[in-house]
Amino acid sequence: MSEGSIVEDLRLIGIPGTNKVMAGEFSRLVRRAFDDVRVKDPVKAGLGALIYPFDPRLAALAVTYHRTASRVLRGLYQSGAKRLEPLYKELLAGVSADTRGWFKDGMTFSVAVSNVANFEAGGRQIVGVVKNAIVDGAKSRGISLSVDPENPDFKIDVRMHGDTLAVAMDLAGRPMNQRGYRTDRGLAPLRENLAAVLLMLARYDSRFDLLLDPMAGSGTIAIEAALMAKGQAVWSPPRAPMAKGIDPYREFISDDPPPLFADAEPAIIASDIDKRMQRVTQKNMAAAGAQGLIESWCADFRSLDAEMVKERALALGLTRERGLIITNPPYGERLDPEDLTGLYGELGEWARTFKGWRAAFIVANPDFERAFGGKARIKKPLSNGPLKGYFLQYDL
Ligand SMILES: C[S@@+](CC[C@H](N)C(=O)[O-])C[C@H]1O[C@@H](n2cnc3c(N)ncnc32)[C@H](O)[C@@H]1O
Repeated sequence: MSEGSIVEDLRLIGIPGTNKVMAGEFSRLVRRAFDDVRVKDPVKAGLGALIYPFDPRLAALAVTYHRTASRVLRGLYQSGAKRLEPLYKELLAGVSADTRGWFKDGMTFSVAVSNVANFEAGGRQIVGVVKNAIVDGAKSRGISLSVDPENPDFKIDVRMHGDTLAVAMDLAGRPMNQRGYRTDRGLAPLRENLAAVLLMLARYDSRFDLLLDPMAGSGTIAIEAALMAKGQAVWSPPRAPMAKGIDPYREFISDDPPPLFADAEPAIIASDIDKRMQRVTQKNMAAAGAQGLIESWCADFRSLDAEMVKERALALGLTRERGLIITNPPYGERLDPEDLTGLYGELGEWARTFKGWRAAFIVANPDFERAFGGKARIKKPLSNGPLKGYFLQYDL
């Protein structure tokens, strides 16, 4: 039996097409948090997966502050096996030879699989084999582990990267987008880490940009912008990453992680036509600890004249040298297609009155570009969950 299946790395898993954004965010966080640690360039393991050398401090930093990743994992074992039996053997060998001490006697765990279509067995069978290999391998070291799907001490994530099956510890214990501030939602809220990706792609910089989301819904883009500007922890208390209860991370994750850019003073306006959505935004802002960082308005964007926005921003002390309109407009599930293209056309006309600003959108409707008019300076495929979409940015 070989120990070949043991790996030691930190994995950031994200939305396909976001490797550059995730790596950029991570190196910014590391530069800010540590004087004496630098990250190496990551290895890309697919369109939305980065692999770094493992360091518990970096792992703790990522699982506390990284906003664009959807999972933060500690890679433990990997296997090129395509069938269950060799997979069990390889993992068993790895766990039996594992002296890292990441599992302790009496601990409970659960296993979840995703993205395993290339494997010659179903997800449930893979889960069964991984559980058995971990329990049996630990037992061979005199350590008793058991499975508890409801209330585990740690969670194991199994997924394929190309031809390799990776077994990792899920350091957050949940998707990173479940930040804990979304107390209520609109009909089509943007996933929180996708909103963060959008802000990174638009190169939002709180020092220079006045940010306006004119169709803010439940406020996700505005809230992510405020929290990203401040370098606030991803999690809204009492929610915390699972790693906080696990060695060796616990010593690096405080009960109340400080903002990394405490001095930042973002200038952000979130507006929506729907009064109910404004209330939802305000509730979510409060839950996220972003009160006082975002102006929340209730308005039809067509009534927000560019001069008036600038004047109101000035009166509120929100002046910046640049302006960024950033939003995810309705994409059609509730509106008649003609009304929708009409709305996109009006959005284009309206946006172009904000001369010198940038406008960035995530859109999943193929009619958007033609109806909005003009030529996007940046167009990049970016899907919103199952909806195939694009990131579009215009210079106005
Ligand atoms: C796709 S949702 C935005 C979701 C939001 N990003 C979130 O995470 O919750 C689109 C929003 O546009 C708003 N909307 C539609 N027409 C509008 C208009 N004319 N002016 C302002 N808001 C409008 C809707 O009320 C809806 O909340």
